[in-house]
Amino acid sequence: MSDFTGLRALVTGGASGIGRATADLLAERGAQVAVLDLDPARVEKPLLGLRADVTDDASVRAAVTEAAEALGGLDILVNNAGIGAQGTVEDNDDTEWRHVFDVNVLGMVRTARACLPYLRRAATARPGTVAIVNTCSIAATAGLPQRALYSATKGAVYSLTLAMAADHVREGIRVNCVNPGTADTPWIGRLLDAAEDPAAERAALEARQPLGRLVSAAEVAGAIAYLAGPLSGATTGTALAVDGGMQGLRLRPAADR
Ligand SMILES: NC(=O)c1ccc[n+]([C@@H]2O[C@H](COP(=O)([O-])OP(=O)(O)OC[C@H]3O[C@@H](n4cnc5c(N)ncnc54)[C@H](O)[C@@H]3O)[C@@H](O)[C@H]2O)c1
Repeated sequence: MSDFTGLRALVTGGASGIGRATADLLAERGAQVAVLDLDPARVEKPLLGLRADVTDDASVRAAVTEAAEALGGLDILVNNAGIGAQGTVEDNDDTEWRHVFDVNVLGMVRTARACLPYLRRAATARPGTVAIVNTCSIAATAGLPQRALYSATKGAVYSLTLAMAADHVREGIRVNCVNPGTADTPWIGRLLDAAEDPAAERAALEARQPLGRLVSAAEVAGAIAYLAGPLSGATTGTALAVDGGMQGLRLRPAADR
């Protein structure tokens, strides 16, 4: 028996990258896991893949109901689906601003709203087991160039995490977020492929993180599992950085020590 045995989790954006690593890890550690994604065909058993678009309230509600019925309830929600955007405030039009907020912020709102009745039931039946973890970003707490829109959405996710933690603490539902640095996922692969010099771009991203490398999806999944698990029952309203030291450290150049 391991720490997630008997727990039922829903992971959005769980068909790729950080979400996929999280769904796999929770399942390995004993949870029953449903994945909600635009492209669930990539999801394999024992994960339950469900198609939904987090910008569409009806499809989110239908997928959440299906997940809860298949798993017999829900104890854990990992709100992870998200998309990127590049540029300064001058570069993205209003349509793109609305779309990225719709996915990255309202997507979490819609999924949480649909899951809360099930999470409340679980919190009453099995106190100490119910948690929401939102995938936020280093972009919420550090100014990164060319990421105005994306950073604004992640700043909103950070504030939303704190507000939700306050709203639901007395219902026995903990809410936290993880703040990954640049993580080696298909998303970053696509960004690198689009760069003029992918090798130079990768080296610049690695050098930006004090550890000197990208974060792995498995490392972010480990942090999400920590925040979602019953052993962190006293932790709510926090942001856990998984960023190779990017948020907290100020190194001198290597030659200088
Ligand atoms: N990779 C990084 O460097 C990094 C860093 C910080 C934070 N994050 C965050 O981590 C999360 C996951 O990123 P990733 O790198 O694993 O990306 P990814 O592109 O590998 O995976 C994202 C998944 O979300 C799904 N998705 C996208 N839009 C959706 C929608 N409208 N409805 C349902 N599913 C949708 C995609 O189909 C995909 O399976 C995102 O919230 C992202 O902002 C990533």
